[in-house]
Amino acid sequence: MQINYQETSKDLLKRIDIHEKYGAKNIDNWNLEVLNPQPNFKILDVGCGAGKQCFLYSDYTKGQAVITGGDFSEELLEKARSKQIERGDSNINFQFLDFNKPFSFGDNTFDFVSSAFAIYYASDLQFTFSEVHRVLKPGGRMFVTGPLPENKQMFYQIIKEATNQSIPPMPGSSRFKGEIFNSINSIFAKTELLTFENPLTFPEVEPFIEYVRASLSEDRKLWTSMFNGPEEYNAIIAKIEEVATRLFLKDGKLVMTKVVGGILAQK
Ligand SMILES: C[S@@+](CC[C@H](N)C(=O)[O-])C[C@H]1O[C@@H](n2cnc3c(N)ncnc32)[C@H](O)[C@@H]1O
Repeated sequence: MQINYQETSKDLLKRIDIHEKYGAKNIDNWNLEVLNPQPNFKILDVGCGAGKQCFLYSDYTKGQAVITGGDFSEELLEKARSKQIERGDSNINFQFLDFNKPFSFGDNTFDFVSSAFAIYYASDLQFTFSEVHRVLKPGGRMFVTGPLPENKQMFYQIIKEATNQSIPPMPGSSRFKGEIFNSINSIFAKTELLTFENPLTFPEVEPFIEYVRASLSEDRKLWTSMFNGPEEYNAIIAKIEEVATRLFLKDGKLVMTKVVGGILAQK
């Protein structure tokens, strides 16, 4: 399945910032608890974006692990490299990687491969997960995180009510427990599904609308079946704001719970 999706640094960094400000829990801690990266590890992060997980593993291993961050967005790789220069991590290499193409790494290279909210956009899951399997060392682990179907119910409810339209199928949540889990399970020796719940409590409507804008934005191409051009996009956002405000006035807050799946697999 060909998926037309392009992330922008503006939208991605906005959503990360909102999770950090309003989330009750920190997904990075969960990631580290599951993976416990060691200083002698070679690590690959697929769909690394602006480098969030690469910097996390680097800090945790005190700059000792050898880390490769791969992404097909030159804009996001540039963001990651600028931050790397600021921080001075010489153990990270950010490079172009398109997960729909063969990976440029030898067999049995990495101790673990992670992919946070990224690899499930692959057009041929079987191909991409076979590439991850190939580049992992025997016994190496892969950790893929993404939205479960129960994710952000309130967010989708508000959008449905405001627009009277059905939500376009999301490549992550609609496939995570089924197609994606099954594909990984068919390739790896051991596979398990872990879950992480994180309620985001918005004390005002405005940051929720900022989150909506950074999710529905035309640049990301995931929601464009719902609107045609900037005028319709702004009209939809205005309607979403009306519904969100009504709910906010009733409850005094807006709570959107992220329900994230983590597929942990071993070669
Ligand atoms: C939601 S972002 C997550 C980024 C990062 N892992 C994080 O958690 O901040 C999804 C990432 O997948 C990348 N991506 C999408 N399709 C890709 C492809 N075919 N090959 C490599 N990266 C891709 C996007 O450029 C984006 O950086």
